[in-house]
Amino acid sequence: MKTVIQVKQISSDEAKAQAFAIRMRVFVREQRVPAAIELDRDDDRAIHFLATSDGKAVGTARVVSHHGSAKIGRMAVLKSYRGKGVGKKLLQRAVATAKKLGARTIYLHAQVPVIEFYEKLGFRCVGAVFNEAGIPHRKMILKKTRKRPQRTQRTQKM
Ligand SMILES: CC(C)(COP(=O)(O)OP(=O)(O)OC[C@H]1O[C@@H](n2cnc3c(N)ncnc32)[C@H](O)[C@@H]1OP(=O)(O)O)[C@@H](O)C(=O)NCCC(=O)NCCS
Repeated sequence: MKTVIQVKQISSDEAKAQAFAIRMRVFVREQRVPAAIELDRDDDRAIHFLATSDGKAVGTARVVSHHGSAKIGRMAVLKSYRGKGVGKKLLQRAVATAKKLGARTIYLHAQVPVIEFYEKLGFRCVGAVFNEAGIPHRKMILKKTRKRPQRTQRTQKM
């Protein structure tokens, strides 16, 4: 049977607890990010997303908007569910939400080893490598897609 991956925006405490548990497993246990900095003040005002695979919570991401920009962050998929399109669905949903919010710039801080993942979805690196939570990162910005000018209907010559 085909696996059903779903991404939903969440707001209940129960769903957020599932999202935070995934972040703890991925960032704190797997990547050794200090637990004290994993959850932060932005979590209170962020829009959170939870990805499920056949109903099991397997991934999360958040969008934080400030001053007309939207920052996508805390993208995490449980190790055994990677490479199955979960991250892509999460990122697409986060980008769509950021656009709906009217963000002029959509950006993120990418861990260097996963830059290609973000590039595949239209993000481009800007600036130098920097250290965040002991991990090398680069800032990436979503390339703006130019809106095609609408064709004006030519009036036919009689
Ligand atoms: C980065 C992460 C979220 C990607 O999630 P995922 O579910 O494995 O990604 P997907 O399966 O949706 O991959 C989408 C595409 O990106 C590619 N991709 C995924 N991870 C990649 C990587 N590390 N390097 C290069 N390409 C990658 C996939 O091959 C796929 O390509 P395709 O569309 O051509 O088939 C996941 O690996 C993860 O949680 N890693 C640990 C935490 C982390 O580093 N988070 C990012 C913080 S900036």
